[in-house]
Amino acid sequence: MQIVDLKNAGALAKEQAARILVEAFKVSAPLAWPTMHDALEEVEDSFGDDRISRAAIDETGRVVGWIGGIDAYDGHAWELHPLAVDPQFHGQRIGTGLMRDFEDRMRERGVATIWLGTDDESNQTSLGGVDIYPDVLQAAANIKNLRRHAFGFYQKMGYIVVGLIPDANGFGKPDILMAKRISEKGRS
Ligand SMILES: CC(C)(COP(=O)(O)OP(=O)(O)OC[C@H]1O[C@@H](n2cnc3c(N)ncnc32)[C@H](O)[C@@H]1OP(=O)(O)O)[C@@H](O)C(=O)NCCC(=O)NCCS
Repeated sequence: MQIVDLKNAGALAKEQAARILVEAFKVSAPLAWPTMHDALEEVEDSFGDDRISRAAIDETGRVVGWIGGIDAYDGHAWELHPLAVDPQFHGQRIGTGLMRDFEDRMRERGVATIWLGTDDESNQTSLGGVDIYPDVLQAAANIKNLRRHAFGFYQKMGYIVVGLIPDANGFGKPDILMAKRISEKGRS
């Protein structure tokens, strides 16, 4: 597997990345990118200024995963958005490879923090389907992974829960905010 800039990978690769987005989120977050049209727009957006967009390519030249990032705080903290691996290839360390590459690219830029939001739209965590007010931060601190929600993947990558957006996708469907410090010095 190699990891390349999606922007230079050709039209077929961009379509494959968009299809992965639709397929990977179909069950866990169906509101995210319901159609190829939505996903292709996301792919195009990922080539903008202050963005990074990297694709994992297998030995046949096919895109098997995609990761993107957005400079959100003047270079100090970047948002990881989005990350998706082709469901046929889950559990083969492709997500790990994309995260490592992404973090290396961020360190090259002197970024201190990577943060992300991962939605619970289908009651996969203890935060789904319940009213988390008023003790939102306590709910965040006590989060449990009930049905393999992706926050468990990010925890394995060293990210911690730093907050919640309650009802971000409708009642009982929060966005779980996570972050990781990737360089001690960061930018001056
Ligand atoms: C989350 C995702 C990117 C992981 O990619 P992957 O290539 O399957 O993950 P890896 O094989 O690199 O897994 C690395 C470790 O994380 C664990 N892991 C993977 N997905 C997990 C999940 N949903 N919950 C808990 N742990 C998970 C693996 O078991 C493995 O653990 P180990 O080191 O103890 O063996 C992939 O499942 C995916 O695209 N999911 C759908 C889209 C999505 O949820 N994106 C992120 C949300 S914003």
